[in-house]
Amino acid sequence: MASANAELWRLGGRRRLPLIVRLSAGGQGLPERGGENAFDCAIIESVRISKSLHGVGGLRPETFRNTGGRNVNEAINWAHSGPDVFEKIPLEDIDVSNPELFRDNVAEKLFSRLRKEDPVHFCKTSMFGPYWSVTKFKDIVQVETNPKVYSSDHSYGGITIIDGESNSAVVLPMFIAMDPPKHDVQRKAVSPVVAPENLAKLEGLIRQRTARALAELPVNETFNWVELVSKNLTTQMLATLFDFPWEDRAKLTYWSDVTTALRGTGLVDTEEQRMAILGECAAYMTRLWNERVNAEPGNDLISLLAHSDATRNMAPEEFMGNVLLLIVGGNDTTRNTMSGSVLALNTHMAEYEKLCANPSLIPSMVSETIRWQTPLSHMRRTALEDTELGGKLIRKGDKVVMWYASGNRDEDEIENANSYLIDRAQPRHHLSFGFGIHRCVGNRLAELQLRIVWEEALKRWPKAGQIQVVGEPKRVLSPFVQGYESLPVRIAA
Ligand code: HEM
Repeated sequence: MASANAELWRLGGRRRLPLIVRLSAGGQGLPERGGENAFDCAIIESVRISKSLHGVGGLRPETFRNTGGRNVNEAINWAHSGPDVFEKIPLEDIDVSNPELFRDNVAEKLFSRLRKEDPVHFCKTSMFGPYWSVTKFKDIVQVETNPKVYSSDHSYGGITIIDGESNSAVVLPMFIAMDPPKHDVQRKAVSPVVAPENLAKLEGLIRQRTARALAELPVNETFNWVELVSKNLTTQMLATLFDFPWEDRAKLTYWSDVTTALRGTGLVDTEEQRMAILGECAAYMTRLWNERVNAEPGNDLISLLAHSDATRNMAPEEFMGNVLLLIVGGNDTTRNTMSGSVLALNTHMAEYEKLCANPSLIPSMVSETIRWQTPLSHMRRTALEDTELGGKLIRKGDKVVMWYASGNRDEDEIENANSYLIDRAQPRHHLSFGFGIHRCVGNRLAELQLRIVWEEALKRWPKAGQIQVVGEPKRVLSPFVQGYESLPVRIAA
């Protein structure tokens, strides 16, 4: 049995849920997961509802609630109730937007309850204000396919739960945060860059760069896969898509990280700072635009935007919004899947063996990893009128969050949704790319990059477990981006 103890903290003398619940199991007593996911269990060992939550994003303390506990006594009860603390949280107190749930990889514990007990759930108070959680696959599709009722428009706060008050970048006009008809014409303008003909042209270059990056990796020593592989390759890809000066390509990743960072988590402290850094991005990209607008149209993203009727007269903030969308969209999502694939295969060794025995499974392994990782945990919409969803009355102006991370684990839609299986019958049947008119424009490009990484990796290191995860991953603290800051890996020669 797990022994449990609870530590209570006082922050600045105020009693605002300064609470840590730590289940110390001494290596025993971790939740049973059928032995298939040792790393995940290790992460669950420490369930923390901690003081850092109160500092995240620099938001107002009175808006905080922890993941359910309204008072200290309840918290102590949970701590003594063993590993299933999440079963005990009263339904009305569940707040799945708590970033620590994602960093500690335990959000699914609450999502599975919501899917069962209250699939369209209202959270009254969270660090991001009140919001609805949509947790079942079919309900998410219903929201996605009804943009007349559920708007993406940036003027209502953007397309994530984190709205303008917390991140001024997310309310910039960008076509992901627009409704038809403007959305449709702007999307069409950038689509050629990721059309099949262009991808076919890019494939050789991506393969060459990937092979070079893998050849340069250290062998028989521990390194951070996120830095040396995932970030490195996705940064190279972005530079290719934008035809961006090669020597400055690290700036692209930096701007992407600055755009999505929660305030106070190391990268960005204030909104002024964020906007100043993104201003540098806008200036740089404007320079490239000015060079290309009068040149022969190229097939890079800047040229496409500069030469399309739909986008050539964009207002400066719209240009910046769309550039950031393309930087962020194509960057950490793919990056985190690249890291997620190594982790998933290492924690499901039978699947890794299957893959090595039959590399033609790489494309379906890629899709399965995109589902399993769900690199963006959600998208948000705003209701334009009173409406009904799953028997609940959604009011005009309500924030509606579609949790892809939950829909992708919905057993009513996906068989064995909680297992990682690289040879599923329908591996592309998932919500990680969204659905409907906003479905990810870069989905085939992402799959291409991931496929090539594994084709090249298995050529060099064909044995299961040769690319070995040798420590715990450090996950990103965010209710939006599901990813990794670091993943220690060792490649055996
Ligand atoms: C595994 C990698 C990726 C994932 C998981 C992902 C996920 C998503 C999601 C969830 C959406 C919103 C869908 C919706 O609201 O229904 C989206 C939209 C978008 N993505 Fe991706 N994405 C990935 C890769 C890429 C890449 C490589 C690009 C680069 C071109 C890209 C560019 C975009 C753009 C421009 C949109 C906006 C589409 C629209 O509003 O019409 N994404 N993506």
